[in-house]
Amino acid sequence: MPTATRRACVVTAFVLACIAASLPHARAFESANVKEREDEKTSTSNKVELRSFFDARDLSAHALEQSSHNALHRIDGTRVNAVDGRVLATSGFEIRVNASSVASGERVTVTVSSNGNAPNATFAEHWIGAYSPAGADVTRTAPVKYAMLTNVTNGEYERTGSGSAAFDLTTHRAETYDFVLFATRMSDLSETSAMAIARSDPVKLTNALDPVWPRVTLPIGWNGGSARVTWQSGRNASHGARLMYRVGGGSYTRVPASTTTYDERDLCGEPANGFGYRHPGYIHSADVSNVRPGDVIEYFLQDFHVTSDRFEMKMPPGEGPDARVTLALFADMGRGTSDDSETWRAYGRPSINVSAALAADALDEKFDAVFLFGDLSYATGFASIWDDWAAQIEPWASKVPFISNMGNHEMDYSSFPDGRIADLYGGRDSGGECGVPATRLYPTPRAGPDSDWFAVTFGAVRVVSMNTEVDFSPSSPQGKWLERELSSVDRTQTPWVILGGHRPGIIDSTDGPDDRDVVPGKRNPSDLSVMDELQRDVWPLLVKYEVNAAFWGHNHAYQRSCAWRAIGEGLFNASNGCVAYSRLGSDGVAVYDKPGAPVSLLVGTGGAKHTRNGVGHAFTEKAFYEFGYVRLTAHNRTHLYGEYQEAGSGYGDVLDKFMIIQPVRVSTTGDEDEAVLSARLERALSEVKTWRGAATIMAVFVCATFGIGAFAMARQWKTESTRHRFSILTSTMDDGAL
Ligand SMILES: *[C@@H]1O[C@H](CO)[C@@H](O)[C@H](O)[C@H]1NC(C)=O
Ligand SMILES: *[C@@H]1O[C@H](CO)[C@@H](O)[C@H](O)[C@H]1NC(C)=O
Ligand SMILES: *[C@@H]1O[C@H](CO)[C@@H](O)[C@H](O)[C@H]1NC(C)=O
Ligand SMILES: *[C@@H]1O[C@H](CO)[C@@H](O)[C@H](O)[C@H]1NC(C)=O
Ligand SMILES: *[C@@H]1O[C@H](CO)[C@@H](O)[C@H](O)[C@H]1NC(C)=O
Ligand SMILES: *[C@@H]1O[C@H](CO)[C@@H](O)[C@H](O)[C@H]1NC(C)=O
Ligand SMILES: *[C@@H]1O[C@H](CO)[C@@H](O)[C@H](O)[C@H]1NC(C)=O
Repeated sequence: MPTATRRACVVTAFVLACIAASLPHARAFESANVKEREDEKTSTSNKVELRSFFDARDLSAHALEQSSHNALHRIDGTRVNAVDGRVLATSGFEIRVNASSVASGERVTVTVSSNGNAPNATFAEHWIGAYSPAGADVTRTAPVKYAMLTNVTNGEYERTGSGSAAFDLTTHRAETYDFVLFATRMSDLSETSAMAIARSDPVKLTNALDPVWPRVTLPIGWNGGSARVTWQSGRNASHGARLMYRVGGGSYTRVPASTTTYDERDLCGEPANGFGYRHPGYIHSADVSNVRPGDVIEYFLQDFHVTSDRFEMKMPPGEGPDARVTLALFADMGRGTSDDSETWRAYGRPSINVSAALAADALDEKFDAVFLFGDLSYATGFASIWDDWAAQIEPWASKVPFISNMGNHEMDYSSFPDGRIADLYGGRDSGGECGVPATRLYPTPRAGPDSDWFAVTFGAVRVVSMNTEVDFSPSSPQGKWLERELSSVDRTQTPWVILGGHRPGIIDSTDGPDDRDVVPGKRNPSDLSVMDELQRDVWPLLVKYEVNAAFWGHNHAYQRSCAWRAIGEGLFNASNGCVAYSRLGSDGVAVYDKPGAPVSLLVGTGGAKHTRNGVGHAFTEKAFYEFGYVRLTAHNRTHLYGEYQEAGSGYGDVLDKFMIIQPVRVSTTGDEDEAVLSARLERALSEVKTWRGAATIMAVFVCATFGIGAFAMARQWKTESTRHRFSILTSTMDDGAL
């Protein structure tokens, strides 16, 4: 009787949770900060006496640090000269675009002529800012991207006084773009400033407001029978946004979208709510439901005005101990481009190559889902970058479920408004975003807006996602959730468990506690300090609950470690932590045969510039400074295979292969019938078309629950063994996160 009652409660809670989740979401999200140690200390002009507007010497320490991740931070609006934000009309320079109207995403050529101004050395400092909408006050609004004329033309511009740069015009939901030519003012020797000296005619963007960039996300409480598509447009909820889809050659289903947005009032500081701000447009989400593992779903984004291109997604394998599944895993992506923007030359440029490799793999069905653990776009307060990033990832994020959690560059900030939960480190790495764009634009089944943790099952793998930017100590909400979650996975059903978080729990790094500034009252953000805390608070849980592997980012490198069990504190090394090393097989696969502790993988290689902090610790079995991602495949309940795909140089080689072997687990508490019943219940759940028919659903499931409970009693169940199916849902309720 107690078992049945408990189950009834849990299922009822589940249904209520789902109903609540379907209501419009409250304002939401999360917090976090550490500066990454970049080996680049910014490039400075090596010309004598000629200082660039972008010269590091004129940037504040904070802007300098930030600019190492996103070059837009180099543009200091307070050092831009223009009259009332308009262009100084004295110069005779001319800037022209080769088209007056283009479709969103198309390329234009922007040409500058000096018209009789004889070229001299100062021409080396001319740059073009791209603005959308046209006519922006360049002292108050950042360009969406910029190009250095001399760089783009290999010096020709400096010699001849004319030159061109190519720009791809991503939509930022404004129907115009224009281009402004800047020169560096040299009169003031103490500080350089930029003068706006010419402005182009506006270029019209023909479909700037249309729905774009679908990504497959997953609703809270996801159980395999549905998926959520999220996209953006420039049209609000009154324009009829909806998803049209069908499975196979069936008839189309049309689902109205729920629409949300945010604005500068939701953001925490500069530049996110000021110089880098632009309205994100409207974020639409709609669910496909009543689908099954492996289903291929054709879909279109619609509103009253247009129907998008055709997209196709594939549902991942359903839960099962031998359900083969492959996940793509990485962190620290950023964005790149193939146009002439300087914006991404120094940082994140390889992400376009990694993204292209992911797109090719998605097309070939080489993976079933993607998990990106923190540091997504590096927009860091410049909203246009989120748009560029959405466009970059669409080819793969629109095809399979895409889950993510937040890193310091999404979350960390020095001040959070009342009611929000601040990050642990208190720096300004999110550029004032404080988690708002990341969580609104990229929903996941996270427990709540300020509770960026969740777990989902793909095939034979339970993926547990934590947020390293907020409290993870055992008594914290996240710490308690983590223990509940890990303790409740039924390993006879879901034999593999992996954890993903942004800052590494094991790291070969010199970034130690002593050389880091610590914000008063906040945690030391150094690699070694955070590792220490994760070793103390989280790693013992991973060992206790036999988690197979942990994945991290933050350091932009690949490191695969021994199977590790923390002993002691601080100054970790192989002799106080490694319980097993892999053995290299003749096929080049490093095999961890029943290692008895989790293997750690750092995969901070999605495209952001490498962090060269490693010293070659013996606990690291393999390390690379290459861009790429891990494909992790559960072959069956005993064999989990991973390979590191190099992707920075086009589609490269597999650089590392590993296999984790674990023994077959025998159920100690349940029996086959219980598993079958659970599977049926889950199937039934997934076949319910919509969560909104609340009364019916509740009635059906309460009845089903009692029916199953009665049968179960007759079979004299012992206890608990299917607890895990509902654990994320019950914990969601416990945390009051809905
Ligand atoms: C403008 O230039 C781009 C190349 O930068 C080219 O792809 C495009 O076709 C040109 N547009 C027109 C209208 O000539
Ligand atoms: C270089 O050219 C610009 C633009 O014609 C002009 O304003 C500036 O005075 C010149 N500087 C020198 C040092 O000749
Ligand atoms: C222009 O290109 C050179 C060489 O690629 C690079 O060193 C320099 O940093 C670039 N200029 C700027 C302002 O980034
Ligand atoms: C939605 O957008 C239209 C213009 O397209 C505007 O007239 C209307 O007021 C907006 N509605 C809301 C609720 O913002
Ligand atoms: C490794 O750690 C142990 C325990 O903290 C310590 O005694 C030992 O000296 C360390 N070894 C090295 C090589 O650092
Ligand atoms: C599990 O997969 C491995 C690797 O593909 C294979 O060698 C092994 O035989 C499989 N085990 C079972 C029980 O199928
Ligand atoms: C990366 O992608 C860009 C843009 O498509 C391309 O121009 C470049 O050649 C690629 N780099 C490598 C090393 O393949």
